Amino acid sequence: MLNQAMRDLQLRNQLQLEAALDRRDIPAALDEAMRYALLNGGKRLRALLVYAAGEMVDANTDCLDAVAAAVEAIHCYSLIHDDLPAMDDDDLRRGQATVHIKYDEATAILVGDALNTLAFEIICSAESTLSDRQARLISLELASSAGAVGMVGGQMLDIGATQKQLERGELENIHQRKTGALIKASVLCGAHCAETLTAEKNQSLINFADNLGLAFQVVDDILDIESSTHQLGKPSGSDQALGKSTYPALIGLDESKRLAENLYKAAIASLDTIGDNTEALRHLAKLILRRDH
Ligand code: IPE
Ligand code: IPE
Ligand code: MG
Ligand code: MG
Ligand code: MG
Repeated sequence: MLNQAMRDLQLRNQLQLEAALDRRDIPAALDEAMRYALLNGGKRLRALLVYAAGEMVDANTDCLDAVAAAVEAIHCYSLIHDDLPAMDDDDLRRGQATVHIKYDEATAILVGDALNTLAFEIICSAESTLSDRQARLISLELASSAGAVGMVGGQMLDIGATQKQLERGELENIHQRKTGALIKASVLCGAHCAETLTAEKNQSLINFADNLGLAFQVVDDILDIESSTHQLGKPSGSDQALGKSTYPALIGLDESKRLAENLYKAAIASLDTIGDNTEALRHLAKLILRRDH
């Protein structure tokens, strides 16, 4: 996937999300805050992973649109709640005031709730062209990756790990759950849009996504130290200020960079067993490793 192709897909995802809000009769104050949070220039990497996995399995683009929109809605909800005073207490996100700063905490909680449920409406309603079987599979994958076993569980562990020295396996568990799970779901749900998927390809994608999902959060931890607030669009140094358990805090910056590189290589090696049509996934994996924000 070329850079221009990626930009086209980012825009496509943005328009899908906008249309999903346009179609609904949402109370004005909630609608305004949802648009503020959702249509504001995230990197849309999870949506791009959906399209890239879909490209690999030759899936129908209309089906991928719904999945990409749903994944970004859930991701955006997770960011809004992550930034709340009760959690990371951050005041900047995607280069603008966080939702609880721009509006208030009640609004931020409700926007998060609304985006979470919107994702499942998009998948299960007639606005998606997914078959009933695909909608069921994808809903299950999204719910379990975002829920208590996945992202929410990881966030709970993350809070409990503040100001603590963890074992390496404990930190990996947190990162896999809070971030890796939804990255993995993005890849697998894109692949679920195919008519059929061999068990072998499915397993290779699982291996790819497990490694990439962990790499994503290791890089996020590194960027919290190495990138500026301006570059990140969110407060640099927030992890250290809060005493968060991160890879750089546990194993140092250099070792964290080596780990990210090794996870990336392991992810790419999983794609080597698949063969055709993996260029977009490879390109995104490299972007996730080498990004500066
Ligand atoms: C940030 O995710 C939160 C993590 C899970 C590390 P992104 O870096 O993908 O954030 P946006 O969507 O581009 O704002
Ligand atoms: C966030 O991890 C993971 C989720 C939002 C689920 P971080 O707390 O490190 O994410 P940022 O750095 O605030 O984006
Ligand atoms: Mg957090
Ligand atoms: Mg945070
Ligand atoms: Mg972070």
